[in-house]
Amino acid sequence: MSELKQQIELAVQAIRKETDFAPRIGIILGTGLGGVAREIQAEKTIEYARIPGFPRPTMEDHAGILHFGRLEGQPIVAMQGRFHLYEGYSPAQITFPVRVLKALGIDTLVVSNAAGGINRKFQAGDLMILDDHINFMGVNPLVGANDDTLGPRFPDMSEPYDKKLVALGMDIALAQGFRCHRGTYIAVTGPCLETAAEYRMFGVMQADAVGMSTVPEVIVAKHAGLRVFGVSVITDMCIPETLKPADISEIIAIANEAEPRLTQLILRLISKM
Ligand code: HPA
Repeated sequence: MSELKQQIELAVQAIRKETDFAPRIGIILGTGLGGVAREIQAEKTIEYARIPGFPRPTMEDHAGILHFGRLEGQPIVAMQGRFHLYEGYSPAQITFPVRVLKALGIDTLVVSNAAGGINRKFQAGDLMILDDHINFMGVNPLVGANDDTLGPRFPDMSEPYDKKLVALGMDIALAQGFRCHRGTYIAVTGPCLETAAEYRMFGVMQADAVGMSTVPEVIVAKHAGLRVFGVSVITDMCIPETLKPADISEIIAIANEAEPRLTQLILRLISKM
């Protein structure tokens, strides 16, 4: 058995000592987007610190708790607190929880994040449903020996985000009257924000939004055969000609302001899965 598979089994055993809950949908809750966590009818919560192999978040607003329970009647497991490359974790560490959720039985992964708007039609506070991505992180979590029992050596990426879920998400957002787009997310490592020249380049590359997360988890989810839905909150606009110093407190304020809309979108989507 591969070392990775052994680590997954240890984590699953530790979780199974505490709960036999069988989730179908995994949810990764991103920056300032904990609203969904409050809606969960929890059966069990487990701190990451109690799960072998789970890193501990270094950022205070990323709590580090696994919630098992129901959302809209569906059995889910939600990660409150996620890991980023800029914190110093390896691509393998960041994506390990996705492996564990798959081993617990999920077939679908829902991810959210905060992102900067590259597409000039966007406004801060808008939602964007991911329909593709560009991995611009310079690393890939699948580099290294492949365990064929976990997924193929050369996983397909022709449809990283499930087209039916993208369409369903757009229908829900439209019906709710939310400003919502579909687009391409480009992932960078951070932690610094981008220069005007970099934002201009991302525009030329036809990216619609830029952020520091999500893509490693999605790559591993696809490797594991999961169906994926991703959504960004556009927290700031990245227009090269008028670039001002980034205000992180403002970015967090916009993420919080958008939280009820994101929560509604995710709840309604999950109710239809
Ligand atoms: N760049 C990268 N990540 C981000 C940004 C940005 O401009 N805004 C929010 N997350």
